[in-house]
Amino acid sequence: MSETLKTQVAIIGGGPAGLLLSQILHLAGIDSVIVERQSRDYVMARIRAGVLEQGLVDMLTAAGVGERAAAEGLPHHGVQLAFEGEMHRIDLSGLTGGKQVLVYGQTEVTRDLYAARDAMGGVILDEAADVTPYDIETDTPYLTFTRHGTDYRLDCQFVAACDGYHGVGRRTIPERVQRIFEKVYPFGWLGVLSRTPPVHEEIIYANHSRGFALCSLRNPQLSRYYIQVPVDTPLDAWPDDRFWEELKRRLPAEAAATLVTGPSIEKSIAPLRSFVAEPLSHGRLFLAGDAAHIVPPTGAKGLNLAASDVNYLSEALIGYYRNGDEAALTGYSERALNRIWKAERFSWWMTKLMHQFPEDSEFDRRIQRAEFDFLIGSPAYQAAMAENYVGLPY
Ligand code: APR
Ligand code: PHB
Repeated sequence: MSETLKTQVAIIGGGPAGLLLSQILHLAGIDSVIVERQSRDYVMARIRAGVLEQGLVDMLTAAGVGERAAAEGLPHHGVQLAFEGEMHRIDLSGLTGGKQVLVYGQTEVTRDLYAARDAMGGVILDEAADVTPYDIETDTPYLTFTRHGTDYRLDCQFVAACDGYHGVGRRTIPERVQRIFEKVYPFGWLGVLSRTPPVHEEIIYANHSRGFALCSLRNPQLSRYYIQVPVDTPLDAWPDDRFWEELKRRLPAEAAATLVTGPSIEKSIAPLRSFVAEPLSHGRLFLAGDAAHIVPPTGAKGLNLAASDVNYLSEALIGYYRNGDEAALTGYSERALNRIWKAERFSWWMTKLMHQFPEDSEFDRRIQRAEFDFLIGSPAYQAAMAENYVGLPY
């Protein structure tokens, strides 16, 4: 059985980037269809980070999906940095003229976006296999895929590949025009989610000779903790007790003393990578989000970068459909990459500052310490860090 569908913008991937793009286009009267490989439940169950820049919060609000984030999200005006047991607060709001970040899980953002798409009759075809874009160098690209035993063809005018790092979108751009920039870090993050009260009302980033540690939260009863582990660490080598013991050893004494432990409800290891694919468009195909770039999570920029891509891409598509303006579409890649590389730099810098690199010499470690000491002693340097952490302007 086969079926042919038609839309203006075919979106590959029902993660936060694809959903937010579809929502914004809908509000601008532009039709889109999302084609997602996994089931909706699978997508919604993914545990990811949860620090939202003001820019993303403003986009969610403008797209009519900001209500729950505003009600349940936790505004954070500062962040804690610890080095070998000494903890220092970075006054994000004080250093940025009052800006803040909102702690609100990416899972919740995804849930809110699915609810909004459903409420507006958005078309999301999940469990779609073998999604393949065709004719992206023409004005009439299309996708083919199979779903529940039916072969589909989706005719469109533009393809937005919001299909993440492992998606088909990036691989559709010919190698002859694509450049890949990558740095793979020799460690990963072992993350635990637990129904325990957070150890601190602010996020703690800790550098310790035993490795990095991060204390974050979702709400007053739900905490998220991470420790740096070698990249090939097997998960079953880290039963909960060992995780909590190791976390305590890496935290400043005052935090370790108040840490409430409990059974993990989610535990996983994520590799750390910095990755950028250039350009972000080829013909009528446009990459957004993890399909084009990955940042190590140390700067909490993954979701926020996906949102800024969607900001630029939606503006360009709306400009095309409203005024026939092709310039913004042509300029999308360069405009988005300008902000992407700044976030890549910041995420790399935070990772270098706060992790233990096995290959580092004693000289490197002294430099890392001096970098930290300079940061703690320099309001100007702290302001630069705060400016990046709360989010650079679009
Ligand atoms: N066909 C259809 N869908 C696909 C395909 C494919 N070939 N490959 C991947 N997908 C889907 C995935 O199943 C996923 O739901 O695309 C979606 C991509 O979503 P994300 O990986 O969440 O990427 P993005 O929407 O760009 O959001 C970026 O997610 O990983 C975090 O840290 C990252 O916070 C950032 C955010
Ligand atoms: C998280 O809450 O999961 C989180 C917070 C800050 C980061 C990364 C992840 O830098």
